[in-house]
Amino acid sequence: MKETLIHTDVLIVGTGIAGLSCALEMAHLYPEYRITLLDKSFDRNSNSQHAQGGMAAVMSPDHDSFQSHFNDTLRAGRWVNQAAVVDYFVRKAPEAIHWLETLGVKFDKETLGDYQLGMEGGHAHPRIVHQKDWTGKEVLSVLWNCVIIHDRIKVLSGYLAKDLWGISFEYGGKLEKCCGIKGFDLSNGNPVIIHSDITILATGGCGRLFARTTNAEIATGDGVAMASRAGVELRDMHYYQFHPTALYDRQNGRALLLTEALRGAGAHIVNDQGERFLWKGDKRGELATRDIICALMENEMTSKGVDYLYLDARHLGSVCLKKNFPQVVGNCLGLGFHPAEDLLPILPAAHYQCGGIVVDLLGRSSLEGLYALGECASTGLHGKNRLASNSLTEGVVFARKLAKELVKFEISNPPLNISEGLKEMGKCSLEEVPQFLEIRTSLQKEMNKLIFSKDQITLINQVSSKVEKWKIIIERKQASKSGIELQNLLDVAEVMCKSFKDQLEEHAEHN
Ligand code: SIN
Repeated sequence: MKETLIHTDVLIVGTGIAGLSCALEMAHLYPEYRITLLDKSFDRNSNSQHAQGGMAAVMSPDHDSFQSHFNDTLRAGRWVNQAAVVDYFVRKAPEAIHWLETLGVKFDKETLGDYQLGMEGGHAHPRIVHQKDWTGKEVLSVLWNCVIIHDRIKVLSGYLAKDLWGISFEYGGKLEKCCGIKGFDLSNGNPVIIHSDITILATGGCGRLFARTTNAEIATGDGVAMASRAGVELRDMHYYQFHPTALYDRQNGRALLLTEALRGAGAHIVNDQGERFLWKGDKRGELATRDIICALMENEMTSKGVDYLYLDARHLGSVCLKKNFPQVVGNCLGLGFHPAEDLLPILPAAHYQCGGIVVDLLGRSSLEGLYALGECASTGLHGKNRLASNSLTEGVVFARKLAKELVKFEISNPPLNISEGLKEMGKCSLEEVPQFLEIRTSLQKEMNKLIFSKDQITLINQVSSKVEKWKIIIERKQASKSGIELQNLLDVAEVMCKSFKDQLEEHAEHN
């Protein structure tokens, strides 16, 4: 068996917008450092890649203001966001857009050169910079083009991080310092240790924990799970956001996203009688924030006894839809719907993790040597509910800040137990394990029930004991990709259940 040890100055786990932006900014600022990017997929898959709506930033100061973006972000987050973080973010968001443009990203503009700004839920003004409805794809393709030609950024594709690796002062105790990761090369199943001075988790969210999600296959909560196992501080994992308009498709676990920008352009959410009902609960109607819309949709479905509702975009017309939403139109046509002619069946789907690994403004976690960025990190920006289109912008703003303010690296010697560590890991099986798929499907159903349950405490206890049982089953098996991802999902489920429980207990104490 070939065992591998790789040395690097900076290791970034994850290749979404945050990971790639950070790699490029680091490479630019520190010509002496080698940077390694770890991608667990072989095809550059990430949630950022699939983002449709765009990037929120104040780009027309005559009609908009930082104060307004700040207020909207706090209002969406139910005022539990960290005000200083929100303030920093809204002020730096326009710079992030300009930085992407200097790299080659093309955002849609009006004839006279002004940005074509989209409107989305919770925003007081149009401020979403976009390229049609495939903003994520455009941004990621430009970032990847810059990364692959950079001679100091090495991309390891098909490498799965299994655990943080580092120094612990007690045998088997929690880590005192992070010196990289242990993982597997999925092309051959060999174990690998990547030793780095700085380790940055940018692994995205955990949408795959739920039965219906807009998230890509890679979103298995890897960063949060690894951090949790290493005793790193986490926060607010019960603040999980569902997206109101995911196409309802009985056949498919992957819920197709119908971008919020459609509602920004005037599409309506209606019930089976064709009535718009959101107004009754929030005067902003279709432009209320996602948490409010999802709750109103749940109520409507329960009171009407129906399984789904509809998005009506027919009045936008075929020309407008094809011009501005080509991706949505193409995806819908693939499933037999024409948005200009048909009502689109919709149901909320798991979309975004608002809590995560606690980090400060510089991306530092509670563990020395470990940083986090993007969806897996909890900067304090989002509060209970993220404002639409703040996430791609967040990825760039905080990736650049982390890179810029990382003045000096602590040089760490590798811990002594390298070959032992590699031997202990054994080889990673590349076979699918059918039992893991069954467990994963059951877990996803339980977690969906839990989110919408009126009796959460009973369900939390049930889910927690099932999770415990499932974890024992996995521990007995040889390491495999599906087993590692399942273990991550189970660990995240455990953290989420605890977070829900703590919140319910706290609530009960105050009442
Ligand atoms: C969307 O286009 O509706 C999703 C974008 C986001 O999550 O902010």
